[in-house]
Amino acid sequence: MTLKLYVLTEKQFLPRHEVTYPMEERGLQFGDGVYEVARIYQGTYFLLEEHIDRLYRSAAAIRLSVPFDKDVLMEKLELLREMNNVKEDAILYLQVTRGSFPRNHAFPAENRPNLYAYIREMPRKIREIENGVRTILTRDVRWEYCYIKSLNLLPNVLAKQEATERGAFEAIFYRDGDITEGSSSNIFLVKDGKVYTHPATERILNGIIRMKVKEFCDLFHIPFVEEAFSIEDIAQADEMFLTSTTSSIIPIIQVEEQLIADGKPGEVTRKLQAAYEKAAGLAVKNAK
Ligand code: PDD
Repeated sequence: MTLKLYVLTEKQFLPRHEVTYPMEERGLQFGDGVYEVARIYQGTYFLLEEHIDRLYRSAAAIRLSVPFDKDVLMEKLELLREMNNVKEDAILYLQVTRGSFPRNHAFPAENRPNLYAYIREMPRKIREIENGVRTILTRDVRWEYCYIKSLNLLPNVLAKQEATERGAFEAIFYRDGDITEGSSSNIFLVKDGKVYTHPATERILNGIIRMKVKEFCDLFHIPFVEEAFSIEDIAQADEMFLTSTTSSIIPIIQVEEQLIADGKPGEVTRKLQAAYEKAAGLAVKNAK
């Protein structure tokens, strides 16, 4: 794994080794910023515009201005990809923070946000996509603005760490008995041919891949039901799966000790995975 050579900042493209974080960067001191992670498959951005649109929405929700207008930012990100000569599967990470100022909780008077964007290789999680993954449950102790993709990720970090220590791929959050989402993914349950997932309220991040799944369901006439399901519903599930930019669509074959149906990826999940691969231009390449 190598970080690519050039990084985009609000002022210019910089060689990676020249980028340092100021000590009083508000993103570090307060988590005062927002971010995005977008996919690159074989050197081409996938759904970049959707991510950039969400970046502006997240920024507006915390009264933060993004240093560039959308068109300019899109152009610069394309240039970043070219400068780094990206040919493989990778991710773009992009964050905007309220900048570097003497420490004070209230906003600085001056509007001087910082932007950092870089690209890193990230292969597809083929083994998980094929075989499915085990997950655990953990209490959702986050705030009520989870629709903002903010830098405040400590509850997510602790949840993922718990999953990792218990040999699971993902931690699934529950709140008031309902499944909300994963520590870095959206969660779906299939029952009697319908796909259920938590509605896109303030309690979850409305994932870009979640929205793609909705599109695929519409295409296949599979009912997409935006209704929360409970922990108890899991025992009755025909299938479960998770989605995220880094994971794409991954079958969930176990939650805590509960096997999902026969413990194998289900038919609806496979259909949605195939639609995803086609949309991302991956289907032909992966044909065996
Ligand atoms: N995470 N919910 C949470 C809490 C997330 O952090 C993510 C993505 C998702 C899925 O969103 P999308 O389909 O837009 O990737 C849902 C990114 C990948 C991350 O933080 O690494």
